[in-house]
Amino acid sequence: MKKVLIINGPNLNMLGIREPGVYGNETLETVYQKIKNKAQALKAEVEFFQSNIEGEIINQIHGALGKFDGIVINPGAFTHYSYAIRDAISCVNIPVIEVHISNVHKREEFRHKSVTAPVCAGQICGLGTNGYLYALEELCNEQV
Ligand code: DQA
Repeated sequence: MKKVLIINGPNLNMLGIREPGVYGNETLETVYQKIKNKAQALKAEVEFFQSNIEGEIINQIHGALGKFDGIVINPGAFTHYSYAIRDAISCVNIPVIEVHISNVHKREEFRHKSVTAPVCAGQICGLGTNGYLYALEELCNEQV
C-alpha cells in the first residue's frame, strides 16, 4: 500500500474564503475528503499537513523520508521563491508532484516561475483541486 503525504503551504487553509473566483468555493476540509475518497479507491494511505510557516513545511518534507512513498505539495506562494523548500525536496529521495489549483501561467508574472518544480517529478496546474487527485493517482501508479 502506497503512503502519500499531502502538503499545503501558506493561505491554503483559507480555501473557500480566499478569492473564490480564482480558487473556487471548496474548503480545505472538502478537498481533504475528496483526496481521502480517491485514496480509498486507489488503496492508498494519505496524511495531510498544512502550514503557513516555511520551516514547518521543510521539517515535514525531511520527516517524510522512510515513511512515505510520495509527496503531493502545493507550496502556495513559496513556489515562487523558496530555495529552502526546493533544497528540502532535493534532500529526500521521494517522488514529489507539485500542484497548483489555479493556472499560474495565466496570472501575474511573478507566479510564472516555480523554483520548486525543477526538483519535482512533475507539476499539475490550472485543473482546480482535481489536480491533487491526479497527482495522487500518478504517485500510486508510479514510476515517477
Ligand atoms: C497556488 C498559486 C500560488 O501562486 C499562490 O501563491 C497560492 C496558490 C495555487 O494553488 O494556485 O497560494 O499555489
